[in-house]
Amino acid sequence: MMKKVFLTRTLHDFALKELKKRYQIEIHSGKIPMPKTKLRSKIKDIDGLVCFPYDKIDREIIDCAENLKVISTYSVGFDHIDTEYAKKKKIRVGYTPDVLTDATADLAFSLLLDISRRVSEGDRIIRSGKWREIFGAFDYVGVDLQGKTLGILGLGRIGSTLAKRAKAFDMRIVYHNRKHVSKSKEKSLNAKFVSFEKLITESDFVSIHVPHTKETDKLFDMEILTKMKKTAFLINTSRGKVINEKDLAIALKKKVIAGAGLDVFESEPISKKHPFVELSNIVLAPHIGSSSIETRAKMAEITVKNLDLGIEGKKPIYSVGY
Ligand code: DGY
Repeated sequence: MMKKVFLTRTLHDFALKELKKRYQIEIHSGKIPMPKTKLRSKIKDIDGLVCFPYDKIDREIIDCAENLKVISTYSVGFDHIDTEYAKKKKIRVGYTPDVLTDATADLAFSLLLDISRRVSEGDRIIRSGKWREIFGAFDYVGVDLQGKTLGILGLGRIGSTLAKRAKAFDMRIVYHNRKHVSKSKEKSLNAKFVSFEKLITESDFVSIHVPHTKETDKLFDMEILTKMKKTAFLINTSRGKVINEKDLAIALKKKVIAGAGLDVFESEPISKKHPFVELSNIVLAPHIGSSSIETRAKMAEITVKNLDLGIEGKKPIYSVGY
């Protein structure tokens, strides 16, 4: 009997072909995210689950699984999975770091460039027929990056890669982490450890690279935003829930900070009625941090490898905890 694998959404053809060689596979079609009731019934007798960052794999879902050996998420983030509980139930959890590091750092830096030089704003101005006069001394002026301070919250894989990009643009780099990174890494990135307080008060750009946890939930609220420079920009490619969106919308409207570039939101997709949509000092991206052809294919490859190993009872290449 072939082992059973369920995918909450389709993947690349090459990945499906691989999976079909070894497993009896079923792929959810229809509403995304798939309804919880369906997931509850599908997970019952499968050996492996391939899921996405919006699928909430909580205790209740895990409890429905009778044979599950591995949850392989097509994402670097795993805050949607109760990994502690999965471990207790001896279910492995695989995820896809490393392969998406460059793509996500590139996206963070492109949001930073876009918001600082008002590229998307300019695009909207042209498309709405409002570009009427040529080249005024003060038209659509942005800010230079050279010599500005980039504060990186979370100097892990993606944060460090962003630092490399910023170094090439002659930015000053400060970071805050739970722990200092090695002296040699600090030296090669030209990054200086500072307290969280210093990071938010001294940076011209703050880029968030921490996971969503109890500690980081709505961390960037009005109290923190008010401590940032009035001229500062906030960039987020990690998880939307790290920001209090209501507070950020007010802060942007009242110019408490200068602008923001966001790829992630508290609840995705956001609607046209979301308070961010009417603001001109924000660049919005539809959660595309890892969305390059090459990176998404590599993620599919790792997702399959993690799944294979987990089904064999082995530790996935990238495994959470166990
Ligand atoms: C992930 O993989 O968790 C990212 O959010 C995708 O961009």
